[in-house]
Amino acid sequence: MAQTEYIVIRAEEDGVHVIGLTRGTDTKFHHSEKLDRGEVMIAQFTEHTSAIKIRGKAEIQTTHGQVFSETKK
Ligand code: TRP
Repeated sequence: MAQTEYIVIRAEEDGVHVIGLTRGTDTKFHHSEKLDRGEVMIAQFTEHTSAIKIRGKAEIQTTHGQVFSETKK
């Protein structure tokens, strides 16, 4: 079941990837969503999704606070 918590991801460059990883014995990518600069995705952790990986430069808001992902120079 989906939880009530949402995380907000706002892309700060083109081609940011929001990657969902499976819940359970093995942890695999199951979905990748591409965001362009300024686009926002609001996502939940669910019975299928135990972790979310952000690739690219983005602002991320969670109940734990605000963080920024960056790209390797
Ligand atoms: N079908 C996925 C699920 O229910 C959709 C999803 C939810 C998702 N949260 C996500 C995909 C976070 C990528 C990232 O779990």
